Amino acid sequence: MIRPRRLRRTDGLRRLVRETHVRVSDLICPLFVREGLVHGQPIASMPGQQQLALTDLPACLDEIARLGIGAVLVFGVPEKTDERGEVALRETGIVPQALRRAKENHPQLVVMADLCLCGFLSHGHCGVLTARKEKGGGHGDVDVDNDATLRLLGDMAVLYAQAGADVVAPSGMMDGVVRHLRAALDEAGWQRTAILSYAAKLASGFYGPFRDAAHSVPRFGDRRGYQLDPANGREALRELRLDVQEGADALMIKPAGPCLDIVRAARERFDLPLAAYQVSGEYAMLHAAARRGWLDLRSCALESLLAIKRAGGDMIVTYFARECARWLQEESSLLSFLRKQESME
Ligand code: PBG
Repeated sequence: MIRPRRLRRTDGLRRLVRETHVRVSDLICPLFVREGLVHGQPIASMPGQQQLALTDLPACLDEIARLGIGAVLVFGVPEKTDERGEVALRETGIVPQALRRAKENHPQLVVMADLCLCGFLSHGHCGVLTARKEKGGGHGDVDVDNDATLRLLGDMAVLYAQAGADVVAPSGMMDGVVRHLRAALDEAGWQRTAILSYAAKLASGFYGPFRDAAHSVPRFGDRRGYQLDPANGREALRELRLDVQEGADALMIKPAGPCLDIVRAARERFDLPLAAYQVSGEYAMLHAAARRGWLDLRSCALESLLAIKRAGGDMIVTYFARECARWLQEESSLLSFLRKQESME
């Protein structure tokens, strides 16, 4: 008889034949930094996550570095917003300040900046609106002015590069954004600043809790005029291919769990490094079930991350980054403890 169970018999055998691993070096930790805060504010829908005050950032990064996490993705929450995006271009804005602070304290850390206007615009959409505004095609369709938005994003990218971002991550799903940013960065002398493109970002319900964290709820309408229809896997691959052609350094797919088929298909087609973003709703969902005692948080969180790796993701943006790093540390110290015990026997 063929007996696949033979290699599942002991922990040693199982370890030997394990195909996929989540490593701490795969993890990217998202951080929210909010202007005008004196103390960190917990985010109710995302247990364990907070909006940080700028002054909390160094200690938070110390912890991240101690855990062996090598990269952060910074989101800024400004005190004021406006209709045209001027707030987003201030050199003293919350994001440039956070980036400078991060680089001063931890030059080795890979500092990524989310690049989007939704948190800075009063209407909460990911770009400036055309004059027609919400009248669009009826039913609340929102008309974001793609090319006017690109110009703003180009200036923001240069601002973030100057402030020390190693990587900018455009997340607004504007057409041509990667080509535009590459040109804007190169022209300003920031050839070395990398672009991690949120190439395939779906119009997902799983972003709900994030919108509390980053205050980026659209005041009217929704994001279906620029984010991908979750029904369209082939269109997602087309978006990824375009960003490869436009010069992205790495590609991101989002949300992760609901898009594992796209992660797998992208892995098979493209050679660029591939990131997947396990979003706020995926995090909140596991926490909510764990709080009721319906799921074991640790095993389910690790399994969800493993699934992303198995599908073909290289890097994972996850709110579990810190907890996961701790769990991995515990596992390896448990192992070395067991080994020591055995050698003493
Ligand atoms: C902003 C942005 C969003 C997320 C990352 N960047 C929200 C959105 O598009 O509505 C979602 C992250 C998360 O849910 O964890 N463009």
